[in-house]
Amino acid sequence: MRINRHKKLFTIGGIVILTLLLQLSLVFAQDFPRGLHLSWQNDPATTMTLMWRSGPDTEGVVEYGTSPEYAYSVESEVHSYRYGRTDVYWHTAELTGLEPNTIYHYRVGTSEPWQSENYTFKTGIPEGDDTPFRIAVITDTHGHHDNQKKVLEAIKEENVDFILGLGDFTDTGNQVEWDIWFSAGEGLLSEMPFISVHGNHEGNQTTYWEQFAYPGNERWFSLDYGTVHLVFLMAASEPLAVEQVPWIQQDLQANNNPWTIAMGHIPLYSAGLNHGSSDYLIAHWASIFDEHGVNLYLAGHNHCYERSLPVKDGRVDAEGVMYITHGPVGEKLYAVGQEWWTDVAIENVSMYVLYSVEGSQIKGTAKALDGSILDEFVLEHPSF
Ligand SMILES: [Fe+2]
Repeated sequence: MRINRHKKLFTIGGIVILTLLLQLSLVFAQDFPRGLHLSWQNDPATTMTLMWRSGPDTEGVVEYGTSPEYAYSVESEVHSYRYGRTDVYWHTAELTGLEPNTIYHYRVGTSEPWQSENYTFKTGIPEGDDTPFRIAVITDTHGHHDNQKKVLEAIKEENVDFILGLGDFTDTGNQVEWDIWFSAGEGLLSEMPFISVHGNHEGNQTTYWEQFAYPGNERWFSLDYGTVHLVFLMAASEPLAVEQVPWIQQDLQANNNPWTIAMGHIPLYSAGLNHGSSDYLIAHWASIFDEHGVNLYLAGHNHCYERSLPVKDGRVDAEGVMYITHGPVGEKLYAVGQEWWTDVAIENVSMYVLYSVEGSQIKGTAKALDGSILDEFVLEHPSF
């Protein structure tokens, strides 16, 4: 009788401990992994890079294929850094040899153990192929994560192929802000590749560089997607602008795609009343853009929207560059004036912009967070 009671107590105790362990593992599982997001380090048509955050001492794997049966798998590499008193662990895995313009199914897992939901992504269009596609451009969240979530959900509905970021997604670049930023993108950045330029508010902290995987030195690089050559630049200081000049010249010289879209956080020409134009970017970059027929230069930073007339050699010219300053996703809003280059200027509205690349035309649509259209335009290629 006594032995039985002990047995019973032992059994109940075991169940209680097991339940506690299960609950603990669930808490742990909910805590990690997180921040699963997609980007490119190489050819968008045949590769995809995935990153996600985990707890310490884990191994990770991506299972993927053109059906949810996942014919392939690849192991991740883990890197870590110390932020305050926390060690932060990120997994990175690059899938290679993929079929262009194809939907892939995938899930990621770590040895914690944990497995993600099933997600899909679409590989890019091969360089030079004129299949139409859509890009969403977002910038300057500045900690307004509700707006970010709203915009990412809207972008998902819009069926865009990938997202370009123009910087300032945090106020100070600290890990807590980034954790909230990734949390707002949970389940969305795992299906839409996100490639960004560095903003001045990303700061001197290493967090930005540790959490994204981009081509080359990750600071300035280019990608070809269909008929568009995309050039990502660091615009936040004159020494950096000067340092990139030889690379920009070489990169644009080697470009074979008809369309060229360059981007940096800081605008060249802007009638923004808070920051305005950048004299040093105009001095060091504008003539290179003119010489190599850059079609569009995209920027954020000034927290207002402005679409320029085509500008070449410092004046309006039909064959010049269209400069677009993007209004913020967040709610830090600055006023905008009117200058000789200004075609459309809009202030005091949080927004995102969609670009649809369709052969010899790029159609742009700037939208407010409620989906209402703020600006629409068609850019015709001068010699497609
Ligand atoms: Fe900003």
